[in-house]
Amino acid sequence: MQTRIAGCKFLVTAGPTIERIDPVRFISNHSTGKMGYAIAAELAARGAVVTLVSGPVALETPAGVRRVDVESAGEMWRECTELWPQMDGAVMCAAVADYTPAEVSPVKIKKGPEASPDLILTLKPTKDIAAGLGRTKRPGQLLVGFALETDNEEVNALDKLRRKNLDMIVLNSLRDAGAGFGGDTNRITVFTSAGTKTAYPLESKTAAAAHIVDMFFE
Ligand code: C5P
Repeated sequence: MQTRIAGCKFLVTAGPTIERIDPVRFISNHSTGKMGYAIAAELAARGAVVTLVSGPVALETPAGVRRVDVESAGEMWRECTELWPQMDGAVMCAAVADYTPAEVSPVKIKKGPEASPDLILTLKPTKDIAAGLGRTKRPGQLLVGFALETDNEEVNALDKLRRKNLDMIVLNSLRDAGAGFGGDTNRITVFTSAGTKTAYPLESKTAAAAHIVDMFFE
């Protein structure tokens, strides 16, 4: 199985996206990119040709990985849709913003008058990159997604697996201590489109990455 990974071309997305409001402010999330970087490192260590499309993070590029830095969901969408046709697989780890400001102010937004200080920001939805790749997936291409949930975890994960045409989805719950954003550990459950469910104990993100990659092409 691992011999099939050597030489394969993989796209990995990681980190948050940031969506500009004005020249000094943005909307983002708590993703640090650690899980995606661990997967990119694991794939490269097994001989895959890895392109890591990364939002802004404070991490070193893993050895042997080509990294493309992007900022917004729109930029990540453009890079990924262009790269996808030449890939054997993609692992969508990025915490992509679901909404972006409808307009970016070219100048710093000033405070409102004391009598009416509220600021209403209009947001528009971003494109779902994983779902876009799922729509154009060729036979033989492997598409893996992540689901970070706070409630109704399994139902939500299985719904995303189906809706985005994924082959595999990795669920982590913010309810689990030691899982989710920032830390060096995760507790994952992997669901496949073939109907399997595999739960792993709390482990390092490096160990979780190895478990995830072990399931590719099985
Ligand atoms: O729908 P939700 O954002 O929870 O789905 C999570 C999965 O979809 C992750 O694999 C994430 O990287 C991917 N995703 C994406 N583009 C978006 C939103 C999510 O690729 N705009």
